[in-house]
Amino acid sequence: MSQQTTKKTAKLTIGDRELELPLIEGSEGELAIDITSLRALTGVITYDPGFANTASCLSRITFLDGEKGILRYAGYPIEQLAQQSTFLEVSRLLIHQELPSQQELRDFEAEIERHTMLHEDLKRFFGSLPKAGHPMAICAATAGALSTFYQDVKFDDPAEQRWSAAVRLLAKMPTIAAYSFKHSKGQPFMYPRNELNYCENILHMMFSTPCEPYEPDPVVAKALDLLLILHADHEQNCSTSTVRTVGSSQANLFASVSAGISALWGQRHGGANQKVIEMLISILEGKRTAKEFMKLAKKKDSKVRLMGFGHRVYKNHDPRARILKKACDDVLERLGTRNPLLDIAKELEEIALEDDYFVERKLYPNVDFYSGIIYQALDIPIGMFTVFFALGRLPGWISQWLEFNRDPTNRITRPRQVYTGSTERDYVPVSQR
Ligand code: CMC
Repeated sequence: MSQQTTKKTAKLTIGDRELELPLIEGSEGELAIDITSLRALTGVITYDPGFANTASCLSRITFLDGEKGILRYAGYPIEQLAQQSTFLEVSRLLIHQELPSQQELRDFEAEIERHTMLHEDLKRFFGSLPKAGHPMAICAATAGALSTFYQDVKFDDPAEQRWSAAVRLLAKMPTIAAYSFKHSKGQPFMYPRNELNYCENILHMMFSTPCEPYEPDPVVAKALDLLLILHADHEQNCSTSTVRTVGSSQANLFASVSAGISALWGQRHGGANQKVIEMLISILEGKRTAKEFMKLAKKKDSKVRLMGFGHRVYKNHDPRARILKKACDDVLERLGTRNPLLDIAKELEEIALEDDYFVERKLYPNVDFYSGIIYQALDIPIGMFTVFFALGRLPGWISQWLEFNRDPTNRITRPRQVYTGSTERDYVPVSQR
């Protein structure tokens, strides 16, 4: 992985020792102190809980400026991609970091279509899981189970085989996601229909039955495609770092992505989209007013947070949330429906953006704040919201895993710690305790 060398250095003083550390510079001018030789030279390590100040890799995939509210995939602004591209084109862009030609895009779409079916034996796997199981758990388990069906998939495969694992995952995850839903309903699994596009196929596999004809609504499919584009990558977030970390032990792509799905599930990360809707519903049902809820969200000991607000990197408007807020209005209008939850969300946002607590901490709506309202308008069940986040993030996970895999200097992820437990003491036999 290439990096810009710079003549700038950083000086570090430890006791009476002074050390000059090199600075590396990214293509957008970001500076990072290179501490790779720090421990060898000084015996000292750095302490950075949550890695809030630590770059774990050099990457060409996604650029994010949290202060300015900028998000670009391989240089292309998210606003332009959201308006003009498709999810499959964005997926290929993330993997290759170049826009495909018309032929390359057609070939890629055809390749995905060829791999949408699941092995018939894998379908039986769903039957062994409880119907009430959360679809995220089912998806994580099934993505991991792909390793048992494609046992030849390894970390150090040649490029064509790594590509084929990537295509299989992109093609089969919608089928896995839809089957996790069908399983919960006790309905028959529907085979993919390859004449449909990516999102139409997801809708078909989720909502059609063998008993009557079903044609996916193009407005709904287009809205889903937009949601997937907006979630497609977000540089070194929790789930992506997990995928890279698992891959760093040289685990295969399916195992790494399965871990990523689990990491995404938590409510501080992708699971927030489900929690936002549950929060809005609790206000709609009159458990608390919007103002009462906001009071609680500011109280440290309440453990309540305004879900869908705040971000580790964005200290300004999340550009994805801006696009989604507008998309909410558009989708509801095109579907000819109203959602009172949207009014509550807008009220909460208005209160937050004028409240000192949120202003001082630079807490703005994030991607999860408005996405659930669109999913609801599209009749996607609440339990599937985070699954759609996972479907969207999949090309990001894949491209980041492939980038790590290709990097000749890659190393196993192995942070250090500052030990704070007991110092050495002698073992006492149990009979004497
Ligand atoms: N509601 C109320 N207070 C908040 C919120 C919130 N949503 N988010 C952060 N704060 C406060 C927090 O209490 C802390 O206050 P203080 O400085 O007085 O202790 C301060 O703001 C900084 O918060 P933090 O938890 O140290 O920030 P972080 O960067 O570690 O966490 C976060 C980021 C996204 C986990 C957090 O903002 C949060 O829990 N938000 C709600 C959950 C959510 O919407 N998650 C989706 C994230 S975006 C999509 C994705 O990545 O999946």
